[in-house]
Amino acid sequence: MTKASVLITGASTGIGAVYAERFARRGHDLVLVARDNAKLETLAARLRQENGISVDVLPADLTQTRDLAAVEARLREDSRIGILINNAGIAQSGSFTGQTPDSIESLIALNVTALTRLASAVAPRFVQAGEGSIVNISSVVGLAPEFAMTVYGATKAFVLFLSQGLNVELSSKGIYVQAVLPAGTYTEIWDRAGIDISNAAKFMEVGELVDAALVGFDRREQVTIPPLHNAARWDTLDASRQALLSDIKQDEVAERYKAL
Ligand SMILES: NC(=O)c1ccc[n+]([C@@H]2O[C@H](COP(=O)([O-])OP(=O)(O)OC[C@H]3O[C@@H](n4cnc5c(N)ncnc54)[C@H](OP(=O)(O)O)[C@@H]3O)[C@@H](O)[C@H]2O)c1
Repeated sequence: MTKASVLITGASTGIGAVYAERFARRGHDLVLVARDNAKLETLAARLRQENGISVDVLPADLTQTRDLAAVEARLREDSRIGILINNAGIAQSGSFTGQTPDSIESLIALNVTALTRLASAVAPRFVQAGEGSIVNISSVVGLAPEFAMTVYGATKAFVLFLSQGLNVELSSKGIYVQAVLPAGTYTEIWDRAGIDISNAAKFMEVGELVDAALVGFDRREQVTIPPLHNAARWDTLDASRQALLSDIKQDEVAERYKAL
């Protein structure tokens, strides 16, 4: 049986490049997306040569409408693509008041809009086929307003919620959606965002992160948090969220808000 092709965004370096490497080793054909065509071509040539797979390079700036539309079209039309790795993302340095509206808009355009549009482009075809996987790269920052990476964290909370909601909507149709929440991982993201990590606690190596995420993928886990050691903590958080929901009474104001 032919293995599904995998389209990976942000494949030119970091987490995306390691996903490319790992899926290539598993014998999947690839479609690699990022802005840096030269880096994508170099990676593609190596992966073709080492693994005997076919690799297409699709250079795109996913914050640009035309480029994004081209990747969406590829996802809609190429029925060989059965796995989408929604990985491209950026972070941002500084406090909320120090960030510009334009830089905030670019962050949301990539981390939220592009990621959601790509999932939206591919999902109907997956539903029709009765199978397909979408992996969305979120972050533990999305669980932690305390980290004060406010807009970045909000985009990652969005990605987690989107993934959970898509699972509710699509899992009965044969679609698997995974949210992956890395913590600090050694990639270029920090340098690119102008965040100095030289004095930070030790981070995770990117290969270990992706291998762990793939263990979760193979187990069809909906939320994979490689750096979380006590898995029960996630279950407890999710159970208290559900308990909170069970206490929402739509037609009745809570006692503490009733006027005296
Ligand atoms: N590293 C961490 O500590 C960490 C922790 C939690 C979550 N994450 C998440 O993991 C994902 C991957 O991050 P990473 O650490 O691997 O970062 P990275 O090393 O900086 O790689 C980011 C990738 O995204 C691509 N990209 C950036 N802007 C783009 C654009 N406008 N259009 C298309 N592609 C674009 C980059 O390629 P080009 O420059 O060639 O376009 C690159 O391939 C992100 O979503 C990030 O938020 C990372």
